[in-house]
Amino acid sequence: MKRWQPVSVLSDIRRGEVAGVRIGGREVVLWREDAPTPTLHAWEDRCPHRGMRLSFGFVRDDALGCLYHGWQFGGTARCRLIPAHPQVRVPASIHVHAYGVREHAGLAWVSMDGAEDFPAGGTGPDNVLPVRTLHVKASVGPLRHAAGIAPDAGIAWHGPVGLAVHEPVAGQAMLHVVRVADADGPSSPALSRWAEQLRDAVESGAGIAPVMNGLIAGEMA
Ligand code: FES
Repeated sequence: MKRWQPVSVLSDIRRGEVAGVRIGGREVVLWREDAPTPTLHAWEDRCPHRGMRLSFGFVRDDALGCLYHGWQFGGTARCRLIPAHPQVRVPASIHVHAYGVREHAGLAWVSMDGAEDFPAGGTGPDNVLPVRTLHVKASVGPLRHAAGIAPDAGIAWHGPVGLAVHEPVAGQAMLHVVRVADADGPSSPALSRWAEQLRDAVESGAGIAPVMNGLIAGEMA
């Protein structure tokens, strides 16, 4: 099934920044241009020259530069400069494989299989702040169930708090937490601590219900 996956909170990919993520065992580089209104990109995390991870690279003049030999790739994913041969007109065939990417609900959403309909699982609130992303040593199934995410949805809302999950590799999960700005409810630091409690409960196999009830009731440290 084609789908959009929530893969990172947006606060982890600010203007001019680069981040590597795993999605279903595949390496993906997220990077944001350094222009005043910078576009977010999601590409295969592999340089077409000699395979260096592009997530080790750098952003300059709205292009992602590879750390190894400095080849630069613009927003179209095509190579636009080979520094060792600056006079060479780079063939269009030299490009990185690009994926679909959207920004929604404080999260970066990636489609690796050509999904077009967006957003996944409904619209949700507009004014949303990222809180944090946590690694959870558990399969996505139990975590999605614990977070109340419906099978065909990408995110679950519990009042002003949004919970999303994606699978970096089989048997592991990433939990993404966001909240509606200016809404009554827990602060970002309190939500961050609560998310750690949920992670610990899922990893230990302890009862999840008390942790989720604490979120729903707003009873958290
Ligand atoms: S491996 Fe990327 S420029 Fe050479």
